[in-house]
Amino acid sequence: MTTTPVAGRTTTVAARATDLSKIYGQGETQVVALDRVSVEFRQAEFTAIMGPSGSGKSTLMHCVAGLDSFSSGSVRIGETELGSLKDKALTKLRRDKIGFIFQAFNLLPTLTALENITLPMDIAGRKPDKQWLDTVIRMVSLADRLSHRPSQLSGGQQQRVAVARALASRPDIIFGDEPTGNLDSRSGAEVLGFLRNSVRELGQTVVMVTHDPVAAAYADRVVFLADGRLVDELYQPTSEGVLDFMRQFPGGNPQTTEFDAKGRTS
Ligand SMILES: Nc1ncnc2c1ncn2[C@@H]1O[C@H](COP(=O)(O)OP(=O)(O)OP(=O)(O)O)[C@@H](O)[C@H]1O
Ligand SMILES: [Mg+2]
Repeated sequence: MTTTPVAGRTTTVAARATDLSKIYGQGETQVVALDRVSVEFRQAEFTAIMGPSGSGKSTLMHCVAGLDSFSSGSVRIGETELGSLKDKALTKLRRDKIGFIFQAFNLLPTLTALENITLPMDIAGRKPDKQWLDTVIRMVSLADRLSHRPSQLSGGQQQRVAVARALASRPDIIFGDEPTGNLDSRSGAEVLGFLRNSVRELGQTVVMVTHDPVAAAYADRVVFLADGRLVDELYQPTSEGVLDFMRQFPGGNPQTTEFDAKGRTS
């Protein structure tokens, strides 16, 4: 395992990008979406990725999560170099080591909540660890909704199913692209609380793209992108601190919600 000393302690790196660049198109239509980004995501840490629209947040997440190819540089998940993997091996790595939560919940409408939660493991032919699954389901308060189909659940409940699905296989790292983007403030606060608890109590590693300084304040650390570059990072962020930071960037007006970092609605 790769280890890096941080403030006197040694932490394991769950994922790392080194000099990562991603260029779309050619010639006049060329867009440098990522420009030599180096960043690491440490195990059992909750990281938020922030930056103005078009700054490369989704691109960074997709490249590090093995969902998209990159132009140069390297990406590692644990000890595995993604650039060295063939399609089949990459698919397997994504399935076995990575959990995803998207803005659109991406649940299968014909399956029950429980079937949705265990689907990735069923596809992989892996049996869920019953005790772990119970812990996860209890954490997201879905025990009495397991036989419901997505259409019978609220948006917040559907996203809780998606969170449980991401956690069910105990992946090395969970990526979320604006996982609370489609939720009202209360449901958003709940989902963020679950993600934070999964890091604090279960030792999960979570990387989340967000526009919302309040959501970012749930994280242990915020990294800021602007124009495809990593420009700064903030530890133990507060929503005020993140807001102040974002005001420096043109087009960086953040979207705020009315819930605070304790998950209370105001
Ligand atoms: N498939 C694509 N083809 C060409 N350009 C692209 C493509 N996908 C993204 N881009 C460009 O790459 C840059 C980074 O896009 P990205 O989606 O990563 O931004 P983002 O920070 O996630 O923005 P948002 O906050 O709006 O979701 C943008 O300039 C975008 O227009
Ligand atoms: Mg995006």
